[in-house]
Amino acid sequence: MAKWVKVCNIADFSRSYLFRHKRKEYALFKLDDGVFCLDNVCSHEYSPLAEGMVLDGDVYCPKHGSRFDIKTGSVKDYPATRPVKTFEVSVDDAGDVSIKI
Ligand code: FES
Repeated sequence: MAKWVKVCNIADFSRSYLFRHKRKEYALFKLDDGVFCLDNVCSHEYSPLAEGMVLDGDVYCPKHGSRFDIKTGSVKDYPATRPVKTFEVSVDDAGDVSIKI
């Protein structure tokens, strides 16, 4: 059953944030309209999306350049063909960021 896990405070990062929890990695991205979370591992081969370039709501995989929609995890450019998993994000009044995993 999914549960909420506190990640950080929204003031702790400007664009992306890597969160490790129980041997899994999550990539959080701060966009103009909120904070979003993807599985940190690119669906093509292993590469950390939290280290990718962010542009216009998309993240570019740092290894081969696949482009993913940060809000939906969908693939917008090859070589990846499978989406990456997304996770629900909550930011409370104190700016604490949690994800549902
Ligand atoms: S590992 Fe991400 S595009 Fe190849």
